[in-house]
Amino acid sequence: MAERFIAEGLSYHLANRAIIQDISLTLSPGELVALIGPNGAGKSTLLRLLTGFLRPTTGRCALGGKSLEKWPTQTLSRHRAVMRQNTQLGFDWPVESVIGMGRAPWTGCAESAIVHQVMSVTGCLPLAGRRYAALSGGEQQRVQLARALAQLWQNDSPRGWLFLDEPTSALDLFHQQHLLRLLKSLTAKGHLHVCVVLHDLNLAALWADRIILLHDGKMVSQGAPEAVLQAGDLARWYGAEVHVGLHPSGGKPQIFLAP
Ligand SMILES: Nc1ncnc2c1ncn2[C@@H]1O[C@H](COP(=O)(O)OP(=O)(O)OP(=O)(O)O)[C@@H](O)[C@H]1O
Ligand SMILES: [Mg+2]
Repeated sequence: MAERFIAEGLSYHLANRAIIQDISLTLSPGELVALIGPNGAGKSTLLRLLTGFLRPTTGRCALGGKSLEKWPTQTLSRHRAVMRQNTQLGFDWPVESVIGMGRAPWTGCAESAIVHQVMSVTGCLPLAGRRYAALSGGEQQRVQLARALAQLWQNDSPRGWLFLDEPTSALDLFHQQHLLRLLKSLTAKGHLHVCVVLHDLNLAALWADRIILLHDGKMVSQGAPEAVLQAGDLARWYGAEVHVGLHPSGGKPQIFLAP
């Protein structure tokens, strides 16, 4: 599945309020795209529209030239997985079963081997045998990443489109780095195509190929990290006073809040 993912003229209205306004974008195979923007900008809503969990008021999304709603549910689920902002489960399952839920669109054998492989690449093996409900917030987030990757697992690797909503919000430094390095290496191989909502602009700068900045339901900027993460623009759209420096290794922009 190496076709482009296209959104054309997406708008989403609720009770006469335009939450998303006329957003068009293209996601290309092998790209890691970060969606950024202030609270309430519409990032989660856009992600739900892109993944087919919400129907746009106007506009359409298409994968491989075919509108999302024309994809059979099971086929789409094999090609597109979503990790949401907050995932509460109503049942107390072991970690392996939660990750195994990702295999629902697939049939066949060796599922436990796949679950083990996914746990290995996502660093979840130390959580084996634990109850999901008893895990810390960051541990649950790691398991949710593993579940989403399990959903896309084919031939020893996740393949397809992965959408994540703030997957690092509860992670410590090591696990933030681990998750983004993993996504970057998988996208660089060309098997996985990632669109991720991030609040941490420094993580976005280090790992995203392209950044899309939302404000008040509109796309106000997009491009390489260097182009989007300009101090004046961040002050304008976030209302925050910032300095932009360069990372000592590699020279990507890094944001410092003014004290
Ligand atoms: N079901 C809903 N009913 C009413 N308002 C909604 C609903 N869903 C979203 N909104 C509003 O739409 C706007 C965008 O919400 P969204 O969750 O997409 O923002 P976000 O950019 O993801 O914010 P955050 O960074 O806080 O996660 C917000 O003002 C929110 O209150
Ligand atoms: Mg959100």
